Amino acid sequence: MSEELFIAAGAGKKETYESLIPQLAALMEGETDLTANLANLSAALHDTFGWWWVGFYWVKNNELVLSPFQGPIACTRIKLGKGVCGTAWKEAKSQLVPDVNAFPGHIACSGSSVSEIVVPVFDKQDQVVGVLDVDSERYDVLDETDVFYLERISQLITEII
Ligand code: SME
Repeated sequence: MSEELFIAAGAGKKETYESLIPQLAALMEGETDLTANLANLSAALHDTFGWWWVGFYWVKNNELVLSPFQGPIACTRIKLGKGVCGTAWKEAKSQLVPDVNAFPGHIACSGSSVSEIVVPVFDKQDQVVGVLDVDSERYDVLDETDVFYLERISQLITEII
């Protein structure tokens, strides 16, 4: 796999994900180190979509702990059921938050982030082992299409853990 991503200029969101996802699978092929893979996924998503913050929190000792990400520094630990991340973990369900001010208990790591998607990552036994978190500084960027494709990216991770 070449260490460059190819996305057609001017492609729409759906086309961009459709082109990106096989490249992400190829990027992880043959690499067994989870940190290396999560780091490359974060960078690939950040570069492709230009989101404010994108990265992972991983379940360690019954807490979510900050893991590979791209963007400004962030909160390091989140408890089960707390914030958008802790809710996605507890409910084992993706959370689409178009306006973080409307989400009770949202954890504001950065005042610039106004909308957010958190998608759980499952192991092969269907347990949540982490979450993929995307933050935007815009209200009109993240939607159900992102949830659909971020869940597919999450499934790529399930395949390698
Ligand atoms: N806003 C998240 C916390 C993580 S940061 O956005 C990177 C939450 O409410 O869980």
